[in-house]
This record gives sequence, structure tokens and C-alpha cells, in this order.
Amino acid sequence: MRALPKASCYTGVAMAKVTINTKHFLSVTDLAPSEIKGLIERARDMKTEANTAKPLQGKTVALLFEKPSLRTRVSFEVATANLGGNCIYLSPQEVGIGGREAVSDVAQALSRYVDCIVYRCFEHEKLVELAKYASVPVINALSEDEHPCQTLADLATMFEKREDLRTTTLAYIGDGNNVARSLAYGAASMGMTFRIASPPGYELSTEVLKKAAQIAAANGGQIEFLRDPFTAVENAHIVYTDVWASMGQEDQAGKRQEAFKGYQVNPELMEEASPDAIFMHDLPAHYGEEVPEGFLDHPQSVVFDQAENRLHAQQALLEALIG
Ligand code: CP
Ligand code: NVA
Repeated sequence: MRALPKASCYTGVAMAKVTINTKHFLSVTDLAPSEIKGLIERARDMKTEANTAKPLQGKTVALLFEKPSLRTRVSFEVATANLGGNCIYLSPQEVGIGGREAVSDVAQALSRYVDCIVYRCFEHEKLVELAKYASVPVINALSEDEHPCQTLADLATMFEKREDLRTTTLAYIGDGNNVARSLAYGAASMGMTFRIASPPGYELSTEVLKKAAQIAAANGGQIEFLRDPFTAVENAHIVYTDVWASMGQEDQAGKRQEAFKGYQVNPELMEEASPDAIFMHDLPAHYGEEVPEGFLDHPQSVVFDQAENRLHAQQALLEALIG
């Protein structure tokens, strides 16, 4: 595992605010590979440099959440405060988006008060609709399709630990879900080799695999789909997993536990990866399912660095979108 390079090594363009060409951040694919690179470098600079600039002074960020959260909510609140802005958290009970009030009306009303809407939802289409009607930037804080803020932090963590992502193989073991989808696009954009091993019925869709493969081809990377987790982790530099039943799929938990048997990331599986491989998980973890109890404290685990990097990556993102 590499030590964190000194910030003084990075005196290039990423020392300044990153310019990005998208108004909203709904998918990893909204950003060009160079923009992702800029943001993760900026995140590293923000992590290692004392921050005195307050680019969000006078700005307000609304956190509109339909699902529970620890990391996303807290890291966005702290990121906004660190940059001099204010945050308002709106719980599912308060707004009733799409029920009490139409998505388009929520988008237009909220845009009159705040400078950015960070939205965690079920249906990705609601996020797209919110962005269509909002006059301010909308950030995807997790939808059923993607978790792009997680991927930014994940790439920042991989960059911190390994530096040259183009020579890095990432093995994702488990469900072809929102986290896997964003990660596939992110790894492809960075020219990495992205392998995914999922049981039948839980793969990334052909459409997503194709799109990721196209991005990978354009950036010198590769996308590989496998069934066997042991083959997938062979010589991998990063082993990544996520829960078998995501938020909203609790009623399928039993069926999924059956389907995902053999897909647990545990010390035996880690043994098959590269000796200096790191273990990543977006969290929360479900012990006894995708990982055994205590596995987050495995010597190769970087999951809490990864959780911390949500803060730095989102600071870079907020600065770029509304700073
Ligand atoms: N990883 C992540 O998004 O965590 P939360 O659900 O706690 O926000
Ligand atoms: N796939 C998980 C990620 C949680 C951060 C879910 O959607 O619940």
C-alpha cells in the first residue's frame, strides 16, 4: 500500500477549482474522464491542504432524502460548512416528493431558495425529472441506477493508495447494483481494468456493460464479466463489494442470501488477490452476508479512508458546481 504523497507534488492545475461542463451530476458519465481526474486530484489537495477559501459563502444546499443515510448526509453537510455554505436537510416525511407534491413543482419551488439540490431517491427517473425542472444544479446522492458521489470518493481513494490507476485491476464481487454501475463507468473512465463477478440474475445489464466497455476502450481500460469470484480477484489490486440487498430490496433479502452464497468477500478470497491488494466497501455493511463480522478491520481494508474521502470528493464537486 502506498503512503499518501505530499500535496506539494501536486502543484498543477488541480490546485485551483476544477471547471466542469455539466450543470447536474446525475451519473458518472456526466463527467469527462479529464474532469473526473481533476476532481479527484482536487479532492486530494483539499484533504492535504489547510482550507481557507470559502467558495460557498452565501450559498445554500438542500439535501432531499427519500432513504436513510449516514455518510452521504453528514459528508455533504460538513463539506458545505467547510466551504462556507449552509445546508438544509429535508427528510422523506417532510416533502413527499411525487406524492404530496409533483416532482416538477418541488424542483421549481426549491430552486427559488437554494443553490443546489442533493437528492437521494428510489427511481432514477424522478431524479432526471427534478433536474429537468430545477434551475439550480442537482446532484445524485444515490438512486436505484447510480451512486456517482460514491464513485468519486472511491476513485479518490484508489488514486491515493495506488496513484497509477491505468495499471490497476479492480475486482467487484456481488450485486450489479447502483454502486457497481457507477464504479464500472468510473473505472472505465480512468482506463482501469474493471472485473465484475455476479451470480445469475444479478449481473450488470448488457447495456451497462457495453457502455462501460465503450468508455474503457476510449481510455485504455477494460471491462470483464465473470461468474467465479475466485477467478475475478486473481491478481486484482482492489477487491470491492457492496450489500446483496440494497435499500428498498429488504423483502428480497432471503432470496438474495441464497443467490449470493459463495460471493462473500472474506480472508480466503482476499488471499487470492494481489498481496498488496486493498479492500473497499461503500458501507453500510451487512455482516454475515457480503462480508463476515470484523472484516472491515482486515489489515488490507481501507473502508474508513474511503468513507472519509466522501467529504473531500464532495467538497471538490460542490466547489466545481456552485463555488
Ligand atoms: N455509502 C453511503 O452512501 O452511505 P450512506 O447510505 O450512509 O449515505
Ligand atoms: N447499494 C446500496 C448502497 C448503499 C450506500 C443501496 O442502494 O442501498
